[in-house]
Parts: sequence; C-alpha cells; structure tokens
Amino acid sequence: MNDMMPISDGQAGIAGLDRKIVVKDVTVRYGSKVAIDDVSLQIKDNNVTALIGPSGCGKSTFLRCINRMNDTIEGCHVTGSIQIDNQEIMASRVDPAVLRARVGMVFQDPNPFPKTVFDNVAYGPRIHGLASSKSELEEIVQHSLERAGLWEEVKDGLHKMGTALSGGQQQRLVIARAIAVNPEIILMDEPCSALDPIATAKIEELIDELRQNYCILIVTHSMSQAARISQDTAFFHMGRLVETGPTEQIFTNPREKRTHDYVTGRYG
Ligand SMILES: Nc1ncnc2c1ncn2[C@@H]1O[C@H](COP(=O)(O)OP(=O)(O)OP(=O)(O)O)[C@@H](O)[C@H]1O
Ligand SMILES: [Mg+2]
Repeated sequence: MNDMMPISDGQAGIAGLDRKIVVKDVTVRYGSKVAIDDVSLQIKDNNVTALIGPSGCGKSTFLRCINRMNDTIEGCHVTGSIQIDNQEIMASRVDPAVLRARVGMVFQDPNPFPKTVFDNVAYGPRIHGLASSKSELEEIVQHSLERAGLWEEVKDGLHKMGTALSGGQQQRLVIARAIAVNPEIILMDEPCSALDPIATAKIEELIDELRQNYCILIVTHSMSQAARISQDTAFFHMGRLVETGPTEQIFTNPREKRTHDYVTGRYG
C-alpha cells in the first residue's frame, strides 16, 4: 500500500444514526498551496473527536471546513463534499450564517465581544430571533451560562464586561455564547492552550458533559488532553489524514508508524 494512503479504520463502521458529519474527498488550497489533501472522515454525534498532528499539518484548516469559515479567507479554496445529517453544506444555496449557528466555534484565544457578560451570550439569540420576550432571553442566557459552568461565578455580575473576566472564565463565556444559539456541533481549536491547569481542567470537564448533547471536534497539541477527553482521534500529517479510530487504539496500538512516532512524542 502507498505509504501516504490514509488508513481509515472505524470509518465504514459508523452507523447511520451516529454519523453526524461525513467529509468526502475534501481538498483545501491557499492559492496554489495544498493545505488539506483529499481527506475523507466520518464524525460521530454525541462524541468528542480529537484532531492531532504537527504544527502546520492542516488541523485548523480542516476544522474551518465544517462551518465554512474558510470561505472568509481570501485565496482559500475548498473542494469535495461535507454532509451534516446527510445535507450537503458545500452547496451554494446553504447560507453560511445559518450554518454557523448550527456549527459553533471556539478559538485558542478567548475572544469575548467588548460587551457585557449578558450581551455576549444574548448576542446570537438576538440576531437569530430565538427569544420572543425579555424573560425568555434571560432564560437562554442563564441556561447557557449554567451549561458552560460559569453561572455561579458571574450571576451577580452579568452587566460587567466579558473582557474583564479571567482567561478561563472568558473561554467558558465564549462556550456559553456558542451554546446559546442551540448548535449541533461545536468546533474547538486548541481551546485550552492559553489557560492554566485549573482552568483547563474545568474546560475539559465541561467538554465531557457537553458531549452528551453535541458533536464536538477539538484540535489539541496535548496528547494527554486528547487521551483524556476524546473517544475518537484523527491524526493529520502534511495535509493528509494518516489514521483515525478509537482514541485508545490510536494511542496504544496505531497502525501507522508515523502515528506512533507522533503520539509518543518522537516528533511534532
Ligand atoms: N490564511 C492562510 N493563508 C495561506 N496559507 C495558510 C493560511 N492558513 C494556513 N495556511 C497554511 O496551511 C497549512 C495548514 O495550516 P493550519 O493552520 O491549518 O495548520 P495547523 O495544523 O492548524 O497548525 P498549528 O498546529 O500550528 O495551529 C500551513 O502550511 C499554513 O501555512
Ligand atoms: Mg491550528
């Protein structure tokens, strides 16, 4: 077999109902540079899938395909098929703004809006008209903050600036903001890399809870984090998907030498 062929165990095995995202033959170019090279991957619902691989291998680029954020990058061109619940999201009739309400995203650096805690969380529901009254909006805000594990810490300061919270609190605020519009999928790009171990532990706990209701994809450079919080792992290398499968298998008994070398810290 060609050394560069992706090995996709665990792919055919995902039953229809558990299969949330089906990525097929996706290639992403920045100008003429290929950043993602013909990747196919199926992602389960109610599950955390970790995307791992050396810097520059295309993890963030791949993540941005799922909510069509690459559309916003000049010179970035995506081909192939991505289906969410059997619906093609690459189709031109799909409104990226509507898609991004279904597919929330959390970035490496917490990025609350320069607004109050309340207005940060209320932002999406207001734009998408999800609340018909002030009290309904307050309920959504409270519920989202509760689910993000932040309510107790901010309930007496909802009208303080979101940017005045600690880094770990800001990241939970951003997660509450993402949850507030009822997404089905949450994309997280190194959400803990700017946080201390205590804040990281809180976010990891939260991710594990959220898994029951969402399909979560997380990019991480921490092998121990991937092992702790994900059920499936996909290893990328130089724009290709090398191997994917149950996290335990990827970490203890990978098929590919490159995967083994990476997860045991031999390079990357
Ligand atoms: N906006 C851009 N314009 C041009 N090239 C880009 C752009 N963003 C990413 N790339 C290139 O695409 C490749 C994949 O980048 P990407 O950011 O997806 O990697 P990554 O795996 O997320 O890396 P890291 O772990 O460092 O975040 C890299 O070679 C990068 O230089
Ligand atoms: Mg990245």
